[in-house]
Amino acid sequence: MAEQAAPATAREWHLAARPQGWPVPADFALVEAPVRTPGPGEILVRNAYLSVDPYMRGRMNDVASYIPPFRLGAPMDGGAVGYVVASAAEGFAPGDAVLHGLGWREYATLDAKHAVKVDPAAAPLSAYLGVLGMPGLTAYAGLLAVGALKEGDKVFVSGAAGAVGSLVGQIARLKGASLVVGSAGSAEKVARLVDEYGFDAAFNYKDAPVAEQLAAAAPEGIDLYFDNVGGDHLEAAIGALGVHGRAVLCGAIAQYNDTTAPAAPRNLAMAIGKRLRLEGMLVGDHAALQPQFVAEVGGWLRSGELRGEETVVDGFENAAEAFLDLLRGANTGKMVVRLDG
Ligand SMILES: NC(=O)c1ccc[n+]([C@@H]2O[C@H](COP(=O)([O-])OP(=O)(O)OC[C@H]3O[C@@H](n4cnc5c(N)ncnc54)[C@H](OP(=O)(O)O)[C@@H]3O)[C@@H](O)[C@H]2O)c1
Repeated sequence: MAEQAAPATAREWHLAARPQGWPVPADFALVEAPVRTPGPGEILVRNAYLSVDPYMRGRMNDVASYIPPFRLGAPMDGGAVGYVVASAAEGFAPGDAVLHGLGWREYATLDAKHAVKVDPAAAPLSAYLGVLGMPGLTAYAGLLAVGALKEGDKVFVSGAAGAVGSLVGQIARLKGASLVVGSAGSAEKVARLVDEYGFDAAFNYKDAPVAEQLAAAAPEGIDLYFDNVGGDHLEAAIGALGVHGRAVLCGAIAQYNDTTAPAAPRNLAMAIGKRLRLEGMLVGDHAALQPQFVAEVGGWLRSGELRGEETVVDGFENAAEAFLDLLRGANTGKMVVRLDG
């Protein structure tokens, strides 16, 4: 087992309290903890980038879901990429770059079975948390496998300037959608959707009711809605969908910090007359698409036809603030935290 130097202790983020409504910095605690030497079959990884994602908000609640809640007073976890510094596992050597699930800490000791080697020469490491990682596969599988995008479809995506949404819009365009409309939360994001990501139209959902702005952007209606937001966005999309329209229910971020039941959509019954398909999706069901996704999206990245935008926050100590900023909409593309050297 070849080894590089690892410190005796390192920092990790713990869940200090379960939020009521919007999370606050005091819900997180930065803790110094021992760095464990890897046992048989394990590796020790120095994390280089951490992912902060909207689903982590749900894990702060003590509610059973498709993924277990974070434990109070224990380290949080999530996507991370880093370099192996010590290995007691066959096939892994110091210096290997790996993707794994023990984020929110500077160093991670884990069973090598839960790590995937990634190629830092093929793409920047952070891309494996974003455009070539979980959000990328979510966009690709959600649009193509769940949404069954067809050439000529008119597509609307909410959360369009985020990690998933920015890729949904770009992939829809590359796959021949006849209209791609996106919504986002600032004038700057809206401008970037049209100028840099090739959306046909975009609007700021804070400017006026979503239904009005969607009707102006897609006067003939839409065939496919990719929902990252829920609430009034979903209600507006149900109104705009044509007969046999499809809605991919990927996320409902507008409701993640709500303490009361949502007011919208009020028109869900329209799904009947229009014979709509509203289909929930979880990216974990679509692992089989991974090779096709990496080949196709990787190709578009290399050719420059698709952009994998990132917002990078520097410093492990800023990870909790980066997560809170993500919920507030400070990011364009994938929000990642870069650790120091
Ligand atoms: N089903 C799955 O397997 C799966 C997998 C990955 C992600 N997701 C879901 O997909 C969605 C996007 O995830 P992501 O990782 O790509 O995050 P993201 O879009 O990069 O970041 C979250 C964005 O949500 C927007 N937002 C926050 N509050 C909002 C509100 N009240 N109304 C409208 N927009 C709001 C903010 O942008 P603005 O400035 O535009 O408000 C923020 O930048 C989330 O709902 C997430 O839970 C689902």
